[in-house]
Amino acid sequence: MREYKNEIPQHLAIIMDGNGRWAKNKGKNRLFGHTKGVKAVQEVVEECAVLKIKYLTLYAFSTENWNRPEEEIGVLMKLLLSSLKSEFEKLLKNRIKLNVIGNTDQLPMSVQKELDYVIKQTENNSEMTLTLALSYGGREEIESAIKQLAVKVKNNIISPEKIDQSIINEHLYTRDLPDVDLLIRTSGEKRISNFLLWQIAYAELYFSKVLWPDFRKKHLHKAITNYQKRERRFGKTSEQLLQ
Ligand code: IPE
Ligand code: IPE
Ligand code: MG
Repeated sequence: MREYKNEIPQHLAIIMDGNGRWAKNKGKNRLFGHTKGVKAVQEVVEECAVLKIKYLTLYAFSTENWNRPEEEIGVLMKLLLSSLKSEFEKLLKNRIKLNVIGNTDQLPMSVQKELDYVIKQTENNSEMTLTLALSYGGREEIESAIKQLAVKVKNNIISPEKIDQSIINEHLYTRDLPDVDLLIRTSGEKRISNFLLWQIAYAELYFSKVLWPDFRKKHLHKAITNYQKRERRFGKTSEQLLQ
């Protein structure tokens, strides 16, 4: 029997958690942790491209994170803006396409403009799709899909009987992405925190104790190796998979 049952995940999603605790452990304030978290993002994006992961989705800011102190939100938005600017050339060089999911109208105008620009400039890149979940909530996403469908039903564009899982999929922010294969959460927390609720129906879950600013290539490799050893049965029996 092969040791590895699975290939490299086609779609990897990561809940990047633990910046605040990382800083606190060092006697620094939370904002310092966010600044240091950027390095981990850079390393993981680069390594995913090297590993030929086709879709990488990063949870960077949730709908619930709007409830954080204003100063912290401001720092996160500033870091996002500066990273979009500083990483732009690297995205072009590595042929990475940028994508965003979430209620982006709520983001500061400067961030929206930079996102639009980078998305447009990288739209023909095909090595990897890097999706940032920004002002993203899984329930909000499903709510928005239901609203769009309800309007279509009301205007006789679609009949209720026609609504199936693939049509629901087409109304989600992730319409262009395949289902998640592997979901990693750092920092030891074992929860989903409203991330990709629909899309993780059959994802493999991996929880790492490492706090996000410390997350490096070797931790990513460990998660992927662990994933590759799992048997994904999708409801079938092991025996059926051998046929
Ligand atoms: C993750 O780190 C970054 C964001 C949620 C934006 P946290 O800021 O949640 O760090 P902890 O969980 O408080 O340590
Ligand atoms: C989830 O982390 C959101 C992001 C990583 C962007 P949180 O730190 O906000 O999640 P909870 O509040 O601990 O569940
Ligand atoms: Mg957290």
